[in-house]
Amino acid sequence: MSIFIDSANLDEIEKALDLGWVSGVTTNPLLLGKEKIEVAEHLQKIRSITSGPIFYQLMSDSFAGMLDEAHKAQEILEKQLVVKLPPTDLGFKVCSELNIKMLCCPTAIYSPAQALIASEAGAQYIAIYVNRATRLMDNGIELTQSIAEILQSTPTALLAASLKSPGEAIAAVKAGANHLTLPFTTLVEMSKHELSEAATRQFNEEGFGLAKG
Ligand code: G3P
Repeated sequence: MSIFIDSANLDEIEKALDLGWVSGVTTNPLLLGKEKIEVAEHLQKIRSITSGPIFYQLMSDSFAGMLDEAHKAQEILEKQLVVKLPPTDLGFKVCSELNIKMLCCPTAIYSPAQALIASEAGAQYIAIYVNRATRLMDNGIELTQSIAEILQSTPTALLAASLKSPGEAIAAVKAGANHLTLPFTTLVEMSKHELSEAATRQFNEEGFGLAKG
């Protein structure tokens, strides 16, 4: 299991990595667009603050263009690159071509059939849009469960994405997700519980230890 931050914001990425248990960064074109930056330079900056996987989604609209863009991303991110691909005929074809040289992750997966094709195309990961599937089709967790059943004897890992709360993240793991990617606010909420905070306060105020007493 790896937990990634789903963001292209350097401040959020830095804070998330500083938590110590976040393994890498997933980006997408919209997240990069929000930053209004030069993308190559920005990917370089992300690389300078993590040694973990960095997911970058291809934007080209032709086979040759996608291969070229993937190689450009690889020049910047080297072994840290995971190539995200749209779940289209073109995206799956590029996945079949690239998976021997680079880790591939078809993204925006909304159906078990797409997940099966991604796996047949050699994808190392698939990104399931859990919360969007719940919002749009009322079945994000059931979708994750069906995909987990279908892909259980394959090497393709399920990355649950588009998650909006710790409860939804845990439900996705129970349904069979192997990895999670979370927006910064959800990531920060993961470790919090008001009763834990109360217990910690009491230890600090009334307790004795090597550092206090
Ligand atoms: O990584 C996929 C994710 O960014 C999509 O999430 O919040 O746009 O549904 P969202």
